[in-house]
Amino acid sequence: MRAKVGLKDTQLPRQWYNLAADLPGGLLPPRTPDGNILKPEQLSALFPEPLIEQEISQQRWIDIPEEVLEILARWRPTPLVRARKLERALNTPARIYYKNESVSPAGSHKPNTAVPQAYYNKLVGTKRLTTETGAGQWGSALSFASAQFGLECQVFMVRSSYEKKPYRKVMMQTWGASCTPSPSPLTRAGRAILSEHPDSPGSLGIAISEAVEAALADASGQTHYALGSVLNHVMLHQTIIGLEAKRQLMQFGEKTPDTIIACVGGGSNFAGLSFPFIKEKIEGANIDIVPVEPASCPSITRGLFAYDFGDTAGMTPLLAMYTLGHTFMPSPSHAGGLRYHGMAPLVSEATRRGLLRPEAISQVECFSAAVQFARTEGIIVAPETSHAVAQVIREAIRAKEEKREKVILFGLSGHGLLDLQGYAEYFAGEIKNLSLQEDELKQSLASLPNAGPAL
Ligand SMILES: Cc1ncc(COP(=O)(O)O)c(C=O)c1O
Repeated sequence: MRAKVGLKDTQLPRQWYNLAADLPGGLLPPRTPDGNILKPEQLSALFPEPLIEQEISQQRWIDIPEEVLEILARWRPTPLVRARKLERALNTPARIYYKNESVSPAGSHKPNTAVPQAYYNKLVGTKRLTTETGAGQWGSALSFASAQFGLECQVFMVRSSYEKKPYRKVMMQTWGASCTPSPSPLTRAGRAILSEHPDSPGSLGIAISEAVEAALADASGQTHYALGSVLNHVMLHQTIIGLEAKRQLMQFGEKTPDTIIACVGGGSNFAGLSFPFIKEKIEGANIDIVPVEPASCPSITRGLFAYDFGDTAGMTPLLAMYTLGHTFMPSPSHAGGLRYHGMAPLVSEATRRGLLRPEAISQVECFSAAVQFARTEGIIVAPETSHAVAQVIREAIRAKEEKREKVILFGLSGHGLLDLQGYAEYFAGEIKNLSLQEDELKQSLASLPNAGPAL
């Protein structure tokens, strides 16, 4: 009986898959705040040339540099595991598989893109990277990757997470990075928020504004900004997850999965797992592909498809995406990495074209699912990942009711060993469902910029 499938180092994928090449109808271009189409060179103050090329590339397969593969190969391919104990506990005819990204040095899928981003920056002579982080997973991943290439790294961490997850900061320090709670007095964007809301818990949108401002403030051009999700090149780098999973499923004797599930914040672990399978779906395969978001930050289930800023202060280009409005202040839930107002343009377009079936789940159900998963499969998942686990349990129960054998593949995006405060509050009965009121949503959607064509 096979418990898990690894792959040999020589079987590591050597190319990333670019969904932009196959998405019917293509992607809408990013725009500047005055509504004009953004020229790629306008991104060069923030990103190195090779990443800008990947951002706009229509090439289906893109080579992974050897230097990047060498680092990824320390923990990749990640295991694909059959969740037999969970299946038995649920008494389901479904076969459940999870792709375990928690085995990376930072504990999540985030190093899959942190390593190539640091590599390309090193290649063009960047000395320092700035970034934001929600739960701390991305900040720690970029700190690790920066250390690999001798880059300095400055991380702005959403204050509510900074306070709940102090050891993430220590991880970043250990890898040689600095970590500042956001909003901070270090930037104009941070000071503006603090003057109105001195106790602001922060948001990813605010932290992005701070990190972008800090990168632009270095007139020498030696500082760049790095983003851990949302953008096309980040989705691209994560596809190594799904490409490995495809081969591993075959070794389990499975063909195409019936259902693929992953949580979504900005969309990157979901994209990584699902995009290689979306290619098959576009070519005719029948796969139910489910991104799962928190009910308290429901960008793809309740947001609008519109041009919006990627950050709160309005410093980034406008992206065509599902959004709750860039001024949206999510409630301080434990799933810090899922508290983002928008959704990756590629995931948004795939949703708009009917290729995905998004779901939103409240946090009490997610923690309960995570505890069941820990007591069966043993892994204590990140609060973000618990959204995927909750949906898996829903699907497995449905398969039982329908007496249907089916194959469920899900993304275990990260472990929760530094998120135990959330578990402690769950056991103390202090976790509440945070639902988004219609008037709050209306108010933040009113902040949508009036630029670009109506969508
Ligand atoms: C463990 C984990 N899963 C998921 C996410 C959500 O991000 P994304 O949607 O880009 O995968 C995060 C973000 O911080 C995370 O830390």
